[in-house]
Amino acid sequence: MSVLYFILLICVGALAAYCLREFYVRFLNYHRYEDAYLANLNEAIERHSENLTFESLVRRNSWQGLKRFKVARKVVETQRQVDGKQISDISSFYLEPLETPLPLPGFLPGQHISLELDTPDGPLLRYYSLSDAPNEQHFRVSVRRALAPPHLQENVADGKGSGFLHDSIEEGTEVKVGMPTGDFCLQTDIDVGTPVVLLSGGIGITPMLSMAKALAQAQPKRRVLMFCGIRAAVELPMCADIDFIAEKLANVDVYICMSAPDGSVPELLPRKNVHIVTGFQDGRVIEGPDGVGCWLSIELIKEIVGDDEGQDFFLCGPPPMMRALVDGLYFWGQPREKVHWEGFGPCAVNWPGDIINSKLRPCAVSFIDPGKGNSRVYLDWRPASGTILDLADSELQKVRKLKRMCGKGFCGECKTTYKGTVVYDKPPVFGPLKENECLTCCCRPDGDIVVTVNA
Ligand SMILES: Cc1cc2nc3c(=O)[nH]c(=O)nc-3n(C[C@H](O)[C@H](O)[C@H](O)COP(=O)(O)OP(=O)(O)OC[C@H]3O[C@@H](n4cnc5c(N)ncnc54)[C@H](O)[C@@H]3O)c2cc1C
Ligand code: FES
Repeated sequence: MSVLYFILLICVGALAAYCLREFYVRFLNYHRYEDAYLANLNEAIERHSENLTFESLVRRNSWQGLKRFKVARKVVETQRQVDGKQISDISSFYLEPLETPLPLPGFLPGQHISLELDTPDGPLLRYYSLSDAPNEQHFRVSVRRALAPPHLQENVADGKGSGFLHDSIEEGTEVKVGMPTGDFCLQTDIDVGTPVVLLSGGIGITPMLSMAKALAQAQPKRRVLMFCGIRAAVELPMCADIDFIAEKLANVDVYICMSAPDGSVPELLPRKNVHIVTGFQDGRVIEGPDGVGCWLSIELIKEIVGDDEGQDFFLCGPPPMMRALVDGLYFWGQPREKVHWEGFGPCAVNWPGDIINSKLRPCAVSFIDPGKGNSRVYLDWRPASGTILDLADSELQKVRKLKRMCGKGFCGECKTTYKGTVVYDKPPVFGPLKENECLTCCCRPDGDIVVTVNA
């Protein structure tokens, strides 16, 4: 009996202790627990939503205008021979902020930044696509040295900005950087599930690397077809990034298409999903270093991409390549909203459907040149001529090369005066413009006009 009493006593004691503890926690210490819990919850929600919504990432530590950054790392990616000397051809620059706190604002892969360089001749503004996936620590840009065209080498200097970056910017140098911007971008925060086809020529690979690396982080199962057009193996930059993409994306195929193979292959790890294409004959894709050469053509792309699964196509490369591929995609039947392209500067690439349906009529554009005693040059404009700058560029023997820089209505460098009416595909970012001013890189004439040469 006494054992039973003893057990009962222990149970009552335990119950009383439990009730006392609950009383203390719930009633005496309740607010402390509740406050701590709510604080944690709020913090978690904040962290969660900050991580998830693109808008909040972009707003994070964002700025206006240009801010000081330093080059934390400079990497020579490829080299080339010029006059018997080996010089850097493509270099990457890792930029870390000096004035704004980390983490860096987010961006959509494909977007670019503006970079102000402090050259001996004064500040120089240039635009560069971000070549890495969004990350909190640095922006990376990869810059190709722009040499003077071979037939003009006697009279024309090499590119100022890229030359300065390659030759005078070292680790530790300060540059000024604008916020990432641009509408050539892949929406990695929304998984629509359709395949993505990335088509690049030469240095046009930079936004594609950013897109593919961002997909590897955000949507690693998405189907990705990446085509990189180069002449020979030595020209392929950032092989480590391509290895990373081939490894981390579960459903990717990379096609390196060489137009002038010299028997060597790029320094990539051998993988089933990386194809070195050197020939395309009678609908047959030839892989390996021994083919006669393969251009990035629409026939090759159709052969590899296959059936229409609602793919989104992204293109960046030299204007002739983009013109051919944009035309090819149109005649293949791809919808306008699925084809996205970006030129690294003014480049006349038109969607054929826009030309066919254009409400603008053929007209005359007369260029009046104050630098040549107000002499006049008359050119015929048709919807296929593109912008006023495209038209002037098509007749460089007649019209002096007009000023330009971004080719997209951002910088105002191509601003000039005109008489008549012009239209813009979309309102330019640069502004406000006076009534008689236009941006030649992004407007078209609506009827006969007179444009002042601003060379
Ligand atoms: C949105 C965007 C993204 C970009 N992303 C990249 C990128 O990721 N990587 C990259 O390398 N570039 C990129 N660019 C291009 C970059 O902004 C520069 O245009 C490029 O580096 C050349 O600038 P530069 O100052 O070296 O050449 P510039 O001094 O502007 O000269 C350009 C070229 O014209 C030639 N030239 C000069 N004067 C004449 C003349 N009178 N007649 C004929 N030719 C002449 C020069 O020799 C040179 O080849 C991008 C551009 C844009 C708009
Ligand atoms: S070239 Fe930059 S706005 Fe026209």
